Amino acid sequence: MTRAVLVSSSAPPTVTDVDLPDPAEGEALVDVTYSSVNYKDGLALARNPGVARLDPLVPGIDVVGTVSALGPGVHDVAIGDRVVLNGAGLGESRHGGWAVQAVVPSGSLVVLPDAIDDSFAAAIGTAGFTAMLSVLALEPFVAPDAGPVLVTGASGGVGSVAIALLAARGYAVTASTGRTTNEDSLRRLGATEVIDRSTLSEPGKPMQRATWAGAVDSVGGATLANVLAATRWGGAVTACGLAQDSALPTTVLPFILRAVSLLGINSVDAPVALRRRAWERLATDLDPALLAGVTRTVSPEEAMAIGADVVAGLVHGRTVVAIPR
Ligand SMILES: NC(=O)c1ccc[n+]([C@@H]2O[C@H](COP(=O)([O-])OP(=O)(O)OC[C@H]3O[C@@H](n4cnc5c(N)ncnc54)[C@H](OP(=O)(O)O)[C@@H]3O)[C@@H](O)[C@H]2O)c1
Repeated sequence: MTRAVLVSSSAPPTVTDVDLPDPAEGEALVDVTYSSVNYKDGLALARNPGVARLDPLVPGIDVVGTVSALGPGVHDVAIGDRVVLNGAGLGESRHGGWAVQAVVPSGSLVVLPDAIDDSFAAAIGTAGFTAMLSVLALEPFVAPDAGPVLVTGASGGVGSVAIALLAARGYAVTASTGRTTNEDSLRRLGATEVIDRSTLSEPGKPMQRATWAGAVDSVGGATLANVLAATRWGGAVTACGLAQDSALPTTVLPFILRAVSLLGINSVDAPVALRRRAWERLATDLDPALLAGVTRTVSPEEAMAIGADVVAGLVHGRTVVAIPR
């Protein structure tokens, strides 16, 4: 048994005791210290069928904590290791991190670098991990001095961390946001320009003035189409999200006339070598104080209450869930 938030089709979300099996082959039991609230967790709380694929379900696509038991077989982690896991089906097709303990696939666990304490790891969470994956994907295509790099959904979790990571590497970052009242905060993270997202969100011409050397997009839809249309020759755009729309109403013109690359980003099934590389880079590139400025910590009960706000795009930055012992 473990104490956990439980979402089900038959009752409102609640904190209750949940049965937890012993770790099977290839699994580890983690004593959870922190999780976080991501866009997907908001969808799980609303029982969105694309996310909540278990009924009932413990939400929480992030787990941070210490390995306390291992199932049979060979593992790359040991009991006592401080670990992080983002995605891998947690909080979607298997119970997630909004719990005192979680049984997780051990092959996707990353041992946390010493520079990252548990609460910082949760503040990074899937959103920050995905921002790091986006920057890693962009780097071979776009040098820091190549020109302005756009970050859409800038006030969100992925966007906020992407701004800080890009600025730390010397990129000139333009932040696109619907909340221009957050301009000061986005500039503190490292944005040199802030634009209103309404300039990008309506359907536009298939080719536009070549503006961006690259972009990190987490909103999709007409915004992503406009970003592709305004990317310079040889530039690249990462796509990880659909906060505006899952549709992509574009043409092949940016690809065949300007050799623009569209780079897909998936954190859920990232292989462990890429996970380790991303977390090593997060340890060196991300200033904990910068992220702390856009992070708040809540209880599991409070996390249940803010899911809808996250999906509505009303939450700025990152929300950490502290798991009571
Ligand atoms: N592929 C992956 O592995 C992966 C991993 C993590 C997240 N994601 C996806 O990436 C997206 C962002 O995740 P997140 O954790 O950063 O979410 P988040 O914290 O909720 O941020 C999303 C941001 O998108 C912007 N936005 C919301 N509605 C919009 C609209 N209608 N039009 C344009 N912009 C809009 C808002 O930014 P402003 O207020 O600044 O405009 C909002 O803060 C989500 O779709 C999520 O599912 C994918």
